Amino acid sequence: MFERLRFPVIVAPMAGGPTTPALVSAVTAAGGFGFLGGGYLTADALGDLIARTAELTAEPFGVNLFLPGAPSVADLSGHREHLLAEARRYGVEPGDAHWDDDAYPAKLDVVVERRIPVVSFTFGLPSVDDVARLHEVGSLVIVTVTSPEEADLAAAIGADALCVQGFEAGGHRGIFADDPVHPAGGETYGLLAALRLVSAVTDLPLIATGGLVHGADVAAVLVAGAAAAQLGTAFLRADEAGTQPAQQRALAEGGRKTAFTRAFTGRPARGLVNRVLAERSADAPSAYPDVHHLTRPIRAAAAKAGDPEAMSMWAGQTYPLAGAGPAAEIFAKLEREAREAFSQASKRLG
Ligand SMILES: Cc1cc2nc3c(=O)[nH]c(=O)nc-3n(C[C@H](O)[C@H](O)[C@H](O)COP(=O)(O)O)c2cc1C
Repeated sequence: MFERLRFPVIVAPMAGGPTTPALVSAVTAAGGFGFLGGGYLTADALGDLIARTAELTAEPFGVNLFLPGAPSVADLSGHREHLLAEARRYGVEPGDAHWDDDAYPAKLDVVVERRIPVVSFTFGLPSVDDVARLHEVGSLVIVTVTSPEEADLAAAIGADALCVQGFEAGGHRGIFADDPVHPAGGETYGLLAALRLVSAVTDLPLIATGGLVHGADVAAVLVAGAAAAQLGTAFLRADEAGTQPAQQRALAEGGRKTAFTRAFTGRPARGLVNRVLAERSADAPSAYPDVHHLTRPIRAAAAKAGDPEAMSMWAGQTYPLAGAGPAAEIFAKLEREAREAFSQASKRLG
């Protein structure tokens, strides 16, 4: 599949707004590939998103789904108490914290019915039956992994390729289970280390993701054996992206660090440091998606007010180097830089 791409760059699924049909179709037209983010949507909304994308491009595109985790037993009362002050600041109430399955079964039905050619998963493993249903309709199945242990498990359920996520990545870590005491695999790997360790346990094609923002980074992961590179943050300020204006401004201004936090959703994710992230990360419970529902009205009200201090502003570590403009131009620049970096590196190798 990815060998077919003129330049193997994939625009990441960025659920919650940033990855739009226009962004996916622009990157596809430029010679890359894109995934729609199916997370947080109802099955009907995902169907609409797929239909709108299909109106913009006749080329294949992918869909990404969140796997539901186990309901959490964490106590949310302390986090809720602190968030009350944030909610009052924006004139809203915290949301109703509850577990749900993100409408996963109904959304899986949608991607099977629409015969989406490539379906990627994050936050865990689809069942062997789900994989079989997708294979029956000709879909490729990709599982996001962050360690060789997760790669082994994904290979065992019949994944066709793996998306290897390094800790540089913006947004949620794809870890299968968020156990704050015993994190998956016991280690948090950077992208090159993850790629190398995963390559040692499987021959499946690997998509590298996390912190790739320059064509030289794309060239580097291709040299390291990846079949393709998946970039999120590099496209957050593309003209076609649906990133919130307040986040776009914060990204453009630079000056903020990024950090992991459970404060906004209850699962670790990397975002720009703001007030809520700085004040609430230390004690935020591991309870996804309960905390996502709890903070939703606050995040929405802050975004509406154009205030970056209480929004989740997911971004990778290299965000200060990501530019703005039409996605096709960002893509073309990545390609020029990759070819130049590759030719310089081959000269250095002699
Ligand atoms: C705003 C944002 C939203 C994201 N949403 C998703 C998502 O819905 N599904 C997913 O698998 N990954 C998601 N990711 C992670 C990306 O797939 C990818 O791992 C990450 O963007 C790579 O790091 P980079 O942002 O430095 O390029 C998201 C990343 C960002 C920045």
